[in-house]
Amino acid sequence: MHLTDREQAMLSGDFGAGTALAMRIQQAIGEAFDAPRMVPVSRTHVALSNQDADLWFVEKLLDLGAHCRVAPTVNPGFDVEYFQNLDQVSSPDILQMKRTAQAYHDIGAILNYSCTPYLFDNIPRQGEVVAFSESSATPYVNSIYGARTNRESAQSALCAAITGLVPEYGLLRTHNRRAEVVVEVEARMDDGLAYQLLGYAVAPRIRNKIPVFTGLNTDISPEDLMNLGAELNTAGAVSMYHIVGLTPEAQTLDMALGRHEPQEVIHITQDDLDRVKQLNSKRSGPIDFVMLGCPHLSLRQLQTIAALLHGQTLKTELWLNTSASTRLIASRMGITQIIEQAGGHVLQDTCVDQPIWNHLAGKIGATDSLKCAYYTTRRSLGFSLGSIEACIEASLKGAIGE
Ligand code: F3S
Repeated sequence: MHLTDREQAMLSGDFGAGTALAMRIQQAIGEAFDAPRMVPVSRTHVALSNQDADLWFVEKLLDLGAHCRVAPTVNPGFDVEYFQNLDQVSSPDILQMKRTAQAYHDIGAILNYSCTPYLFDNIPRQGEVVAFSESSATPYVNSIYGARTNRESAQSALCAAITGLVPEYGLLRTHNRRAEVVVEVEARMDDGLAYQLLGYAVAPRIRNKIPVFTGLNTDISPEDLMNLGAELNTAGAVSMYHIVGLTPEAQTLDMALGRHEPQEVIHITQDDLDRVKQLNSKRSGPIDFVMLGCPHLSLRQLQTIAALLHGQTLKTELWLNTSASTRLIASRMGITQIIEQAGGHVLQDTCVDQPIWNHLAGKIGATDSLKCAYYTTRRSLGFSLGSIEACIEASLKGAIGE
């Protein structure tokens, strides 16, 4: 891979040992993927996880004097202020979250703690080269904005934030962005859950190739697009999709395919979606809690939930995750208060995959998110799936699907 004199100087340590380490990692990635050169990035997003390896890596870079040249937005961990006085979280876990927050503060990150930065805080334009990690973020910025990012890890995105560069390979190059598989959707896409199920059903069938969807409307909500990408990139490693008439690079099917024949055409039926739902749901019947906001809920979703809850009392715990900016606006609008009066919790800065849900281990909840159900298995949480509306009804009744 060709490096400019400045990039060579970064690698040699002229810009400090932290930058040199980040550059060494990126050079190795570039060589592994036959990248011809490095190119500048204008935005980055780091999928901070607050887990041991994440903390180890950011602290190592800090110890070596690294600082971000292109400040990244970051994923949620958990809201320390909210959880530190609750029995359900241990002191070492509180300490780890504080260390993570401090490390990302010191390295120069934008501390938005949200997994949907592309809706609010970090929005690229078409053609912009960026380095975004996080399952819903990578496909959203590629497919909806027409920006260019590879499927970065938290670590490689942090390296990009430090050097301000990425190796030019994969989805940064035009010919790698064309669709390879046509997915004809024949299912009823009549609620938000359908888009989650679609992503989860398609990913294993296309084996990480880039799909172009036909049979979908072009007025799909940002929330449904966010969830479609999250599930494509959770059940598989699909960092870009095309929807004809919606993706900037796919105004026609021919354009999406780069004027090539598709390698394959697959059909997704209602039976396919029903099967995914059934296979990933524990059972219908009584539930102990409801968890929504994986990825983080938008203001519009919180508004829907508040309208469903207005003046009622919940029978189960209800945990809603959103960004701090969305929560602030929701509170100004009285949305948070309606949800809290019903007995629900509206959390900011918080992810479902954190060590703060110990009191829910072994219990069965409801969620609209397959990603939530998948990641929390290791924390012994069980889920049945339903749309946001069905989950709220379940929280009011204490049971789902009855
Ligand atoms: Fe967001 Fe955590 Fe889910 S980062 S998408 S709430 S696993």
